[in-house]
Amino acid sequence: MSTPPAINQSIGKPINRVDGVDKVTGKAKYAAEFNVPDLAYGVVVSSAIAKGKISLLDASDALALDGVLAVFTHENRPKLAWFDISYKDQDAPPGSPFRPLHNATINYSGQPIALVVAETFELARYAATLIRVEYKEEAHETNLETNLHQARKPKSGIASLLKPPPPKPRGDFEKAYAEAPATMNGRYIHAAEHHNPMELFATTVSYEKGGKLTIYDKTQGVTNSILYVTQVFNIPFKDVRVLSPYMGGGFGAGLRPQYQLFMAVMAARELKRSVRVSLTRQQMFTFGHRPATVQNVALGALPDGTMNALYHDAVGETSQFEDYTEVVVNWGGMLYPTENVKLDYKVVPLDVYSPLDMRAPGGVTGMSALEEAMDELAYSVGMDPLELRLKNYTDIDHSQKLPYSSKELKECFRQGAERFGWSSRTMEPCSMKKDHNLIGWGMATGIWEANQMPARAEAVLMVNGKLRVSSATADIGTGTYTIMTQIAADTLGLPISDVLFKLGDTDLPIAPISGGSWTAATIGSAVQAACQEVGKTLLKLAKKMPDSPFKGAKWDDITFSDKHMRLKSDPSVALSLQTLVDQNGGKAVRETTGALPNMLKQKNYTRSTHSAVFVEVMVDEELGTVKVTRAVTAVAGGRILNPKTARSQILGGMVWGISKALEEESVLDHKFGRFMNHSLAEYHMAVNADIHDLDVIFVEEHDDIVNPLGVKGLGEIGIVGMPAAIANAVFHATGRRVRDLPITLDKLL
Ligand code: MOS
Repeated sequence: MSTPPAINQSIGKPINRVDGVDKVTGKAKYAAEFNVPDLAYGVVVSSAIAKGKISLLDASDALALDGVLAVFTHENRPKLAWFDISYKDQDAPPGSPFRPLHNATINYSGQPIALVVAETFELARYAATLIRVEYKEEAHETNLETNLHQARKPKSGIASLLKPPPPKPRGDFEKAYAEAPATMNGRYIHAAEHHNPMELFATTVSYEKGGKLTIYDKTQGVTNSILYVTQVFNIPFKDVRVLSPYMGGGFGAGLRPQYQLFMAVMAARELKRSVRVSLTRQQMFTFGHRPATVQNVALGALPDGTMNALYHDAVGETSQFEDYTEVVVNWGGMLYPTENVKLDYKVVPLDVYSPLDMRAPGGVTGMSALEEAMDELAYSVGMDPLELRLKNYTDIDHSQKLPYSSKELKECFRQGAERFGWSSRTMEPCSMKKDHNLIGWGMATGIWEANQMPARAEAVLMVNGKLRVSSATADIGTGTYTIMTQIAADTLGLPISDVLFKLGDTDLPIAPISGGSWTAATIGSAVQAACQEVGKTLLKLAKKMPDSPFKGAKWDDITFSDKHMRLKSDPSVALSLQTLVDQNGGKAVRETTGALPNMLKQKNYTRSTHSAVFVEVMVDEELGTVKVTRAVTAVAGGRILNPKTARSQILGGMVWGISKALEEESVLDHKFGRFMNHSLAEYHMAVNADIHDLDVIFVEEHDDIVNPLGVKGLGEIGIVGMPAAIANAVFHATGRRVRDLPITLDKLL
């Protein structure tokens, strides 16, 4: 038995993005860039109050302008679906989804209250300023911290399957904490954050013959958009097609249908004309956001560092109409073998729009608090923070009493610490001063889930011997096009230049929203399965050939490499894919299939990605400015399909971690109940000047439980441990324990 030559093996190689050239040359089109004939432009009018009723909405001045086509409001909108269920999307939390232009009620500041449609964008924008609105205002509540007494358990729903509530307590936290010789407790307050992808939220609806709609939408799931549109407007499925070939950043902002989708479809149907609606940057602050949270953590340890008491509660804000939830507090019980654990999670409904998943939703929130708390416990015990993690290491998820399907976190600690030089750290805060700069080293652990969802894919070996593979998934900037091309190419032994992968189109086989770090595992498994089906058909064709060298060969006996099907036992016995497809009567070989998670295999394991993060900060003693001079993240994320796109994912997460720890904050003016810094000038986020030396390590991790490919997903793990590691480094530098994020300089002066 000799192994076949792996000439075309592309998995594991740092190949460039297959869509890279299209992106940098502008050939890649985004939702607002598709030009369709006779396009009209819609501009949204936003509510100026946070709560109350519209008492007057006068559009006469706008409508008097030549070229203004219509003004849609709650008073003249078309009849729409009645029941909440029709407005529920794949990421809808329990509650009643927001319905644009539903009635005169204002639920939050910035709520869309009218759509002005005109012949040009400029005219629509001008006309929108002429809409006269009067309100009957009511008192609003937007302050989480002054409304903590309203905290209650969130309603449960389908979403709770993916976002389970905290498990029941284990052991006796109160007793263990009271008796623990070393303890800490702290309150952690995080500001709300808004998704700020480069691409504005936009939808272009092309109105076609017979009222058919082709919709170019900024979404992380075309399937999600088409379900929403067909249900809300009661349009047959066959009359709608949603496309989203590229996305200028997702981060969770496209996990739910954005309200401009509703607006553009409504206007197009009413006017029987193509319509584009793009939100302004300011209006993007009137959609989802990462909720503000208040958390409490209390930890207790024995003198040898064994953590025997863990308490973590969190309260997050939600809207008055939906209970947005995320997994904030469950991680500690999974990560640490602590015997006495008590966890709690609640929400406070406020007069804001529903919060929405944002990169590592809940995970980065909870782990930021918990891993800062761990650092504090390390100082309370008098133990190196890394030593404390190792002392409390486990291969078992004690919250479910299940082993991890794989967990190379220890190796992350080892390799990360070595690369960073952690061993030369001095324990004492303020002990690493350099001139007028305080140097600090901090570390933290990251954890995220490794999920797989059901999805379908099609693979077509065309008559020219090239492979076309497709699934209605999204590439939210992560590299989906590239890694799917690699998986398809390797499965059938083709060079990646012979493979074309298509996505973001509801005409393609169904796929879930692209989020939760599950796309590589989910679509990858479907792509592999579809290509294997093509391979099986090719084997059948091979067997039918006269004097076939594959007579009697079974699927397990063959392999594909260098554009050939080969016998594993003798790779020189081979037929080219071109020869094989030629046997198909002049037709392409086409197979569509689905991939389901193997629940039987998975149910006995907890499946997670892990990371170890090491950070150096430099704090200016006089100015209080913090600079992250160096950071190393070591990731255990299963099989790495493409080290280049994988590294980019982790780098992006690390950058956002710096941003979250030091800069990002959506500031509410509670007097108006409005997010005030709603522009890229005032919503601070990390830019090039904030980013210095970032280093990514992927430790080897084999896992055949998660899925046949052994991939775990990398979209979110990069951010999870960063903020805590930075906060811990700031403490080490300054002796100041800042528990409220972001750590702006006023908190250090
Ligand atoms: Mo991610 S927040 O699941 O797009």
